[in-house]
Amino acid sequence: MKELIHEMLSEKQVEEKIEELAQQLSRDYEGKTLHLICILKGSVFFFTELAKRVTVPVTIDFMAVSSYGDGTESSGTLNVRKDLDEDIAGLECLIVEDIIDSGNTLSRTKKMLAERNPASLKICTLLDKPERRETQVDVDYTGFVIPDKFVVGYGLDYAQKYRNLPYIGVLEFVEE
Ligand code: IMP
Ligand code: MG
Repeated sequence: MKELIHEMLSEKQVEEKIEELAQQLSRDYEGKTLHLICILKGSVFFFTELAKRVTVPVTIDFMAVSSYGDGTESSGTLNVRKDLDEDIAGLECLIVEDIIDSGNTLSRTKKMLAERNPASLKICTLLDKPERRETQVDVDYTGFVIPDKFVVGYGLDYAQKYRNLPYIGVLEFVEE
């Protein structure tokens, strides 16, 4: 099978949206320090672009969780491969995610972090595929709502490939 990628959101569209989100965050967290939590690996491109554009003081931390294998279906169980380095008690936390699909990964992640007593805990996602939701999750900031397609680029992968594409594209499999 050959893999083809069709552009869905250009680099410019994505970066304009990130600028908008950063402005909104800077207004909403005025006077506070925002603790940004990057969900590795998919969110890393979005995370750094967002963090650079936020004008309130920012601290950052990273965590790696997954419910996906090498394929395109969610396995449903949360696997914490790397936990945060810092304690989040009393911090204004924002989970930065690449995409919300079934919602399973993020709802479990949020529940786990909420138990650590942050001052606040919100979610910012670049992409949302609401049609695929299995677990309800309150998303506070959303870049783009997209249809039920498997997308790659801007951090998102298929079997670890395509993360470095500067745009977001739909992955299609075709017979060779
Ligand atoms: P959920 O638990 O089904 O919401 O899955 C969320 C995670 O699955 C995301 O953080 C991505 O890593 C991955 N994922 C979901 N949809 C896609 C997609 O269309 N392309 C690439 N990865 C995806
Ligand atoms: Mg992810």
